[in-house]
Amino acid sequence: MAKLNIIKEPNEILRKRSKEVTEFGARLHQLLDDMRDTMHAAGIGIAAVQVGILYRACLVDTEGGIVELVNPAILKATGEKVGDECCLSVEGRRGDVKRTTHVTVRAQDRNGKFFEREFTSRDAVCVCHEIDHLDGVLFTDKVVN
Ligand code: CO
Repeated sequence: MAKLNIIKEPNEILRKRSKEVTEFGARLHQLLDDMRDTMHAAGIGIAAVQVGILYRACLVDTEGGIVELVNPAILKATGEKVGDECCLSVEGRRGDVKRTTHVTVRAQDRNGKFFEREFTSRDAVCVCHEIDHLDGVLFTDKVVN
């Protein structure tokens, strides 16, 4: 395991759309382990693109522990809340973003097994923030004030 460098704005890779993960082997497992170490040092969520890999994979440090989401899709999103956000890739900026408060996500685990999971409040915000990264979207695009 290793702590990786976090890519910062305005690096254009952060604006690219990440690709579906199709192989669930050692390379993906290493990446997810390294992302875990990297996130631990600094934040509550991380997407693969933030360490320079355009894979649809992210981690969220939820109330119940770290959850790995590979190829995540939001099935359902309800509620609305404006809250303060920041990002490992955007230094020195915070801002209020409007997010949903309940999300149901379908994703694969590191071995390719599909699962569904609900996230609420802060965890839901974090999941939406990380999934945005997979589509090249940063929270600064959505700041309301
Ligand atoms: Co971020």
